[in-house]
Amino acid sequence: MLLFLDSTDSAEIATLAETGLVDGVTTNPSLIAKSKRPMRDVLKEICAAVSGPISAEAVASDSPTLIAEGRVLREIAPNIVVKLPLTMEGLKACRALTADGVQTNVTLCFSAVQALMAAKAGATFISPFIGRLDDAGQDGMALIREIRAVYDNYGFTTKILAASIRHVGHVKDSALAGADCATTPPAIFRALYQNALTDAGLAAFNKDWASTGQSIL
Ligand code: E4P
Repeated sequence: MLLFLDSTDSAEIATLAETGLVDGVTTNPSLIAKSKRPMRDVLKEICAAVSGPISAEAVASDSPTLIAEGRVLREIAPNIVVKLPLTMEGLKACRALTADGVQTNVTLCFSAVQALMAAKAGATFISPFIGRLDDAGQDGMALIREIRAVYDNYGFTTKILAASIRHVGHVKDSALAGADCATTPPAIFRALYQNALTDAGLAAFNKDWASTGQSIL
């Protein structure tokens, strides 16, 4: 499973990338606004820190402008993936950009039939927003399972990118449901390797080791 960071904090992304476990990054207009920085500068820094797919979102509402924006965004770095909305215009842009060899991430997916349409449009990634579905009293993880079944039924190669992740359990359940990737805020990425029993066990081992007076080096 690929692990992406959902962030525009390029300094924190670079720090976490040192683990070698950050496979890509997703951004969106809200995260760009939160950074209070020019989108191009932020994306350049992120693309320099992480060599995997970096999603940059086009913001127009008509397909010709979405396509033009996508072409501008892809010039920022070779690993840019153009993020497009799950609308008719977004799907048209997805088809056109895919035909041009541009990688795409169709975003704001809330149903399996939307995901089917994105796959038919040639999307590289589909982003089901599981946290927002849970927030609305629906079952976000059921959507991941449904998309997996639909894609496997027809051999679609579009990657399922579990998005809008709220907690570690979402990552575990996405992995169990067969998502290809998950994008998490940095705090959740850090929490993925943490466990209180690991910390307690390590403290006990260290204490016992110290009592031996030995040294490995
Ligand atoms: C993914 O590409 C989105 O940027 C993100 O996961 C949205 O998450 P949110 O619902 O926390 O805004």
